[in-house]
Amino acid sequence: MTVNDVLTVHGGTPLHGRIRVRGAKNLVSKAMVAALLGDAPSRLYDVPRIRDVEVVRGLLELHGVRVSDGAEDGELVLDPANVESATTDEINVHAGSSRIPILFCGPLLHRLGHAFIPDLGGCHIGPRPIDFHIQALRQFGAVVDKAPEGMHLTAPTGLHGTKLELPFPSVGATEQVLLTAVLAEGVTELRNAAVEPEIIDLICVLQKMGAIIKVHTDRVIEIQGVPRLGGYTHRPIPDRIEAASWAAAALATGGDIEVYGAEQVDMMTFLNVFRSVGGAYEVTDMRPPREGSAGTEGKIRFWHPGGELQAVALETDVHPGFMTDWQQPLVVALTQARGLSIVHETVYEQRLGYTEALNSMGATIQVYRDCLGGTPCRFGRRDFKHSAVIAGPSKLHAADLVIPDLRAGFSHLIAALAAEGTSRVYGVDLINRGYEDFEAKLAALGAHAERA
Ligand code: UD1
Repeated sequence: MTVNDVLTVHGGTPLHGRIRVRGAKNLVSKAMVAALLGDAPSRLYDVPRIRDVEVVRGLLELHGVRVSDGAEDGELVLDPANVESATTDEINVHAGSSRIPILFCGPLLHRLGHAFIPDLGGCHIGPRPIDFHIQALRQFGAVVDKAPEGMHLTAPTGLHGTKLELPFPSVGATEQVLLTAVLAEGVTELRNAAVEPEIIDLICVLQKMGAIIKVHTDRVIEIQGVPRLGGYTHRPIPDRIEAASWAAAALATGGDIEVYGAEQVDMMTFLNVFRSVGGAYEVTDMRPPREGSAGTEGKIRFWHPGGELQAVALETDVHPGFMTDWQQPLVVALTQARGLSIVHETVYEQRLGYTEALNSMGATIQVYRDCLGGTPCRFGRRDFKHSAVIAGPSKLHAADLVIPDLRAGFSHLIAALAAEGTSRVYGVDLINRGYEDFEAKLAALGAHAERA
């Protein structure tokens, strides 16, 4: 953390105004990796300027992919004509910065016959193992050697389609299987797959490249390997995590924010909870251009309609459940709701640590090892504090806060904006990993915040 990595936030002002979200971070970075699989250039639109994108771009360039900016703002052209090996030292520059490099395994094995993956980073929200990834790669025929500096992979007899069942519908492991199976010889059947909208959008990208992928009911995905893939041209789904974060900020500060680019279909579960808490929203659908009239961009307006917010019970879950990344920003709004709210986190075992910071600001949040409010999950028997009870409403006051991870970081920021007084938020650069231009957006919404 640098001395400049601090935001001074003068809270207590409702956020008002309009901002825009671009392509989903959790799709864009994967679509960029997919470009490695093609034998022709790909074109991706609406790419946000965030650190995860820079990390993937750096890794692609190291492996000979030419990445250039297109004519449109946010357009990237990725040309994989000269894919080549990179040295371990060069790759290690990216160690610890993101979890996306693990998804380079399959594409690099297909293109080069070998791969080196640096030690991963990403948010510190529990142990975040990669056992599902390694197990899957081995089933495809990869030989995986773990070394202190990272992971070396080879595929002496090529990669072959296989039958897999994930112990949990992991987003990353599902993407690993997709990115490996599309060029593997034969058919792959994946059971207990994740079916998040970002995964379906990645399947659309791969299909545009020439892949044959069937999404069956009950989390079964079947991939028929093909001998070659071409490039793609793709406009990603919007970032539903960022949209929900700004929605939570509107509710927690008593404000009114129009989120341009946000789409209803992938946010339905969030919208139900938002309404149950007492938030108001209005969806304006995108209108395509017609002869003689320009089109309009879709948006969702989120606001606090006045009066009291109500406590809710919610459980995070894989899609179509309530996303784990929506949980932290919304909990800040729940500190303002009357009664006892319950949050049962079933995706990550340690994603409630940030509530301590909210308590230091005057919130009343207790965390429990039990599975509260919903069906028992895999963490209940394993002694993890993964349920929270939030008693409200509580008046939040300013505090000095240190940002622990990306989504919790945004919740700290919202809390500081909702609190009376001047807070200092340390480590805000972490927010740039997933929120494009967040400081400019805060300014556009009338927040009083400045560096240091
Ligand atoms: C992705 C998202 C993240 C989101 C998460 C769940 C990206 C870049 N990140 O993360 O924002 O919160 O999905 O929607 O897309 N697990 C294992 N072994 C493995 C892999 C996962 O035990 O090999 C466990 C994890 O520890 C976790 C659960 O499975 O408890 C879900 O993780 P996963 O869906 O893989 O998350 P990511 O893909 O890392």
